[in-house]
Amino acid sequence: MNALPSWLIYCRPGFERDCVEETQAKPVETTADSGFVVLQGKAKLAYRQLSFARQLLTLHGEVNDLPEGDRLSPLLAALPASPEKFGALYLEVPDTNEGKTLSGFTKRFQPLMEEALRTSSRLIDDPTLPRLHIFFPDEHRALIASSDPHNSTSALNGIHRVSMASDAPSRSYLKLAEAFEVFLDKKEQALWLKPGMTAIDLGAAPGGWTWQLVQRGLKVTAVDNGPLKGAAAGHPNIKHLRQDGFRFRPQRPVDWLVCDMVEQPQRVAALMTEWFVGGMTQRAIFNLKLPMKKRVAALKEALDSLRTALNNKGIRYQLEARQLYHDREEVTIYLARKR
Ligand SMILES: C[S@@+](CC[C@H](N)C(=O)[O-])C[C@H]1O[C@@H](n2cnc3c(N)ncnc32)[C@H](O)[C@@H]1O
Repeated sequence: MNALPSWLIYCRPGFERDCVEETQAKPVETTADSGFVVLQGKAKLAYRQLSFARQLLTLHGEVNDLPEGDRLSPLLAALPASPEKFGALYLEVPDTNEGKTLSGFTKRFQPLMEEALRTSSRLIDDPTLPRLHIFFPDEHRALIASSDPHNSTSALNGIHRVSMASDAPSRSYLKLAEAFEVFLDKKEQALWLKPGMTAIDLGAAPGGWTWQLVQRGLKVTAVDNGPLKGAAAGHPNIKHLRQDGFRFRPQRPVDWLVCDMVEQPQRVAALMTEWFVGGMTQRAIFNLKLPMKKRVAALKEALDSLRTALNNKGIRYQLEARQLYHDREEVTIYLARKR
């Protein structure tokens, strides 16, 4: 028996190889565009250090040839002996067209499976216990896995759902909404996104990110040569400056810097470094656009240069990078000064 665990990781379809490369583990199953990978050969992986993973699970086993008439019995029979009890049941599907067609089934199946697990006392409501995940790559196959609540996300399918505001100037509004959900818990959101706080948005047009900040009560300086649209144009809590985002500097420090300028990752990382070294912001959320090839290396290079510069200046910080559900060829970074 292999002493090292097997891992099941969900990712954006098309990023399976990046997901494997980042973990440096041995790929066991990496089908292109499947939205998941199975890996081996690593005793430990840390969810927060993986940018391309939407979810990190320990894989216990799988069931193939699931009969349509009775999926419950073979799944119950295949449950691992350990962990003995689970704190929640997640029935999940990949982020693919096939996965979408299965989500109706998982919704119908959830109460049946939950009832069976509660009857056998294997499922109790306890958020500190491992969660049981049953992942259906297709209708006949199930991978049985569990997550450690301290080393995974609580979001179903690894996707934090956020809702669109009808008056938002662009769908990018959702991306910053998701970033806040992913990087900050509710307490941190209440503490660090308070009405009256200040933010700079570099590359703000047409105004989706700015609108997200304004909805949370912040006062925003939106920097972009392009126009702000819809409700963001002329809003009293938004000051629009038609300037170069790489040259702009605030007159006094702000609470937040957000940046969505489409530029080389190294250049954006250098700009963020300057803002933090200069004490111009407490926190930042910014996007790094990935190249077509060597995406993991390009991301690492940009983040390493940022870390090195902050370390050299003795600045204490928190840095997390994640490819969000609303990110395509890019990764979103959260950087915060620590006291
Ligand atoms: C992806 S869009 C930003 C979308 C925006 N976050 C939203 O939510 O609507 C990128 C923006 O960056 C702006 N941009 C690119 N280079 C810039 C620069 N050097 N200075 C200011 N804005 C820049 C572009 O004009 C464009 O509006």
